[in-house]
Amino acid sequence: MSVMSGEGALAVFARAKELERKGRSIIHLELGEPDFHPPAPVLDAAKSALHEGKDRYCPVQGVPALREELAAYLNHTRRLNVSADNVVIAPGCKIALFMAMMALIEPGDEVLYPDPGFPGYSSITLGVGGVPVPFELAERNQFQPDPDEIAAKITSRSKVLLTNSPGNPTGTVYTDKVQRRIAELAVQHDLLVVSDEIYARIIYGGEYASMLRYRGMEERALIIDGFSKSFAMTGWRLGYTVAPAHIVPALNMLTMNSYTCVAEFTQYAAIEALRDRQGATPRMVAEFAKRREQFTGHLNRVPGFRCAPPEGAFYAWVNITDTGMSAEEICRIMLEEAGVAAIPGAAFGPSGNDFVRFSFASSAATLKEAVERILKVSTAWQGTPAGR
Ligand SMILES: Cc1ncc(COP(=O)(O)O)c(C=O)c1O
Repeated sequence: MSVMSGEGALAVFARAKELERKGRSIIHLELGEPDFHPPAPVLDAAKSALHEGKDRYCPVQGVPALREELAAYLNHTRRLNVSADNVVIAPGCKIALFMAMMALIEPGDEVLYPDPGFPGYSSITLGVGGVPVPFELAERNQFQPDPDEIAAKITSRSKVLLTNSPGNPTGTVYTDKVQRRIAELAVQHDLLVVSDEIYARIIYGGEYASMLRYRGMEERALIIDGFSKSFAMTGWRLGYTVAPAHIVPALNMLTMNSYTCVAEFTQYAAIEALRDRQGATPRMVAEFAKRREQFTGHLNRVPGFRCAPPEGAFYAWVNITDTGMSAEEICRIMLEEAGVAAIPGAAFGPSGNDFVRFSFASSAATLKEAVERILKVSTAWQGTPAGR
């Protein structure tokens, strides 16, 4: 336990909540949680399932009807060729990731992962006895992974290569060229690829390319995905892994020894979410697209802030070097003096040091007010010379 770490977002959230309890008005831009809820047919499906008595222990790997629906959904939306047998349902993406890592990593195995990246990547790796090996998502590369850097960091102990496109916190959608090179490296060095595709539906142009589409990946890539972001179902705790056939038994063994199965009625509601008869997901993404333009435009008016509109996900990743202050100090001033909660970039790894992450999963009016509040307190750093 001593090697694992928490999440910066949750720490900021706790402090923001404390201030709220004292009567302060707080704008929450720290959590990666859509401000949408699932549409009525999904809620109705959950209610019907409960009334039909679907509240029992159910199959370890997940309800077959949901796994069938997921296979069809993935094959349709990502042009894949997976079967229901490859799908393992989990209570959230994080637990899907945790189980996959537990299944794949032996003590001392090295895991290559993006930095900045989701905090769980390094923490879970350490927790299962692995060795985290970060590869940088640098601003000079538009936050794309550098396959040459990855190649240079591969050793005889390398076991897993973690990818996350679109990425948290940078919003980067990996280019075809980068993904092709990553796939080639994985084949060449016999690595497993764990592709966290939780933001796959939230992209602002182009067609999504899953890692599973690349040559040689069918045998060695696992997709981690779920319902938290694309279907605005964070609290339902629903995720899944798509794994090669030879890895599925290990995931089932871990499930059997831990959570047994995912709540049955939520799985039936998830089928309805996937069918999305009302087009809720495209509508949500269209709304995010509008906010993305507006919010990043407004943030760039804050002295010392610099950010480009992300290609995917719903985060603004802002370089604050020109404020002359640390990201921690900027976040402290924003929260304590302006009531705007955001996360210092170092919470996502050392390469995030000079950045702040804002979630734009809040209404356009709220985002506008957040920037107005920040502009007011920015006198604290205005006039500070650029650089440190
Ligand atoms: C990249 C990434 N992976 C996984 C997760 C966890 O998802 P879930 O809420 O389904 O456990 C998140 C949540 O913020 C995330 O950003």
